[in-house]
Amino acid sequence: MTDPRSKLIVALDVSTYEEARVIVETLGDAVEIYKVGFQQFVAYGPFIVRYLQAQGKKVFLDLKFHDIPNTVASGVTSAVGLSVAPHDAGTGKFAPLLMLTVHTQGGVEMMKAAAEAAKKRAAELNVPRPLIVGVTVLTSDAATDETPKLVLARARMAKESGLDGVVASVQEAAMLRKECGKDFVIVTPGIRMADGAAGDQKRVDTPGGAIKNGSSFLVVGRPIVKAQDPRQAALDILADMRRALTS
Ligand code: C5P
Repeated sequence: MTDPRSKLIVALDVSTYEEARVIVETLGDAVEIYKVGFQQFVAYGPFIVRYLQAQGKKVFLDLKFHDIPNTVASGVTSAVGLSVAPHDAGTGKFAPLLMLTVHTQGGVEMMKAAAEAAKKRAAELNVPRPLIVGVTVLTSDAATDETPKLVLARARMAKESGLDGVVASVQEAAMLRKECGKDFVIVTPGIRMADGAAGDQKRVDTPGGAIKNGSSFLVVGRPIVKAQDPRQAALDILADMRRALTS
């Protein structure tokens, strides 16, 4: 059976470096992958990524690049540099960057430039290429009749442009899995336990629901990082995923 930890990404959406460290230490070996978004990156830059890598954690850099092709390609080129281990990395625990995001609304040229830049820079540095996924429609947007069509059109565009996959909600995951194939990476935020508060998220589903609908990675933020007992919350989510993986 797939270890559910290989599919769970915790969004490190906390305001200080110290809080981030407490979360990572509290979650311990329950969590292997962290998402660094702009709350942490704007404040701490590569240091937060380096901290996670030093702990042996994989990093999903979610900066949602959306600009002219040349600028996005340059940003991606810089991001791939984070896959090079610092000289003092030691121990062999270091992990290259797992994945990063661009916006599909940036268009085909922008996405192609991102994919090509990642490939080129990874080859130059002799590091594994991070996965690049395109944000389709934010999970905080409520579903309308148009949402699945829009998500699918953007996912097809992402695939044609050479991206590895997309970010979408669980509600579109089964359709994307069917239409875009078994290797297409589907990242689903908007994950909530059945009794959990949705917050600003509109297109939500449970961890088990995400697995059953073919999600490759589940992104979970507040239900873990704002929980009274974050480790227990992560273990409950992993248990829900495990049930779906074995049923
Ligand atoms: O706290 P919560 O579980 O809602 O966090 C979800 C995380 O996923 C946030 O960091 C948010 O930026 C991110 N995200 C999202 N919807 C997308 C892409 C990313 O909610 N389409």
